[in-house]
Amino acid sequence: AAGAPFQYIVAEKRGAQRNVGLIQLNRPQALNALCAALMREVKRALDAFESDPHVGAIVITGNEKAFAAGADIKEMQSNTFQQCYKAGFLDEWDRVSKVRKPVIAAVNGYALGGGCELAMMCDIVYAGEKAQFGQPEILLGTIPGAGGTQRLTRAVGKSLAMEMVLTGDRISA
Ligand code: COA
Repeated sequence: AAGAPFQYIVAEKRGAQRNVGLIQLNRPQALNALCAALMREVKRALDAFESDPHVGAIVITGNEKAFAAGADIKEMQSNTFQQCYKAGFLDEWDRVSKVRKPVIAAVNGYALGGGCELAMMCDIVYAGEKAQFGQPEILLGTIPGAGGTQRLTRAVGKSLAMEMVLTGDRISA
């Protein structure tokens, strides 16, 4: 991907024909918590892959321990409703669900909160043995605000979605 170098992700073309756009979330010290700067980089990489005629599909992944442990709690804990509303909090995230090329989430380890929501925005979720999906927002007194309540319901059904969202309990693949 062109432009300024990335700090929080690695973006490169992979495969024998270099036609797979790979985005690896690369903030391991924070379990790939999705701070605003990281999501801006994801958006830039998606824009570049979307407009690259040599790219046929996109993979978003993390590492063995974490796909992403959620939105960045430290960054958002002092946000007020008014600030979120005025500044369009989470607006960047929509880019993921609007990509026209197929996007695959390759998940291992924690996919929690915004991490689970990010995976569900992709067209396909490919999960490893150690994948753990959860919406633990309730434990912080917030809700899955990036589509989690809707997409999780479609993915696992209403009863399990309610159980996960109301308890914060995690499930495997
Ligand atoms: N936002 C910001 N930082 C996060 C984070 C998040 N969502 N999740 C993890 N981190 C940071 C931790 O603060 C810690 O940083 P530090 O070493 O500077 O204190 C680092 O990542 C490692 O996390 P740690 O909790 O020490 O790892 P663990 O293996 O003991 O536990 C989890 C892993 C996933 C169970 C735990 O990190 C957790 O519960 N995270 C929050 C998940 C969550 O509520 N997500 C929804 C957010 S809306």
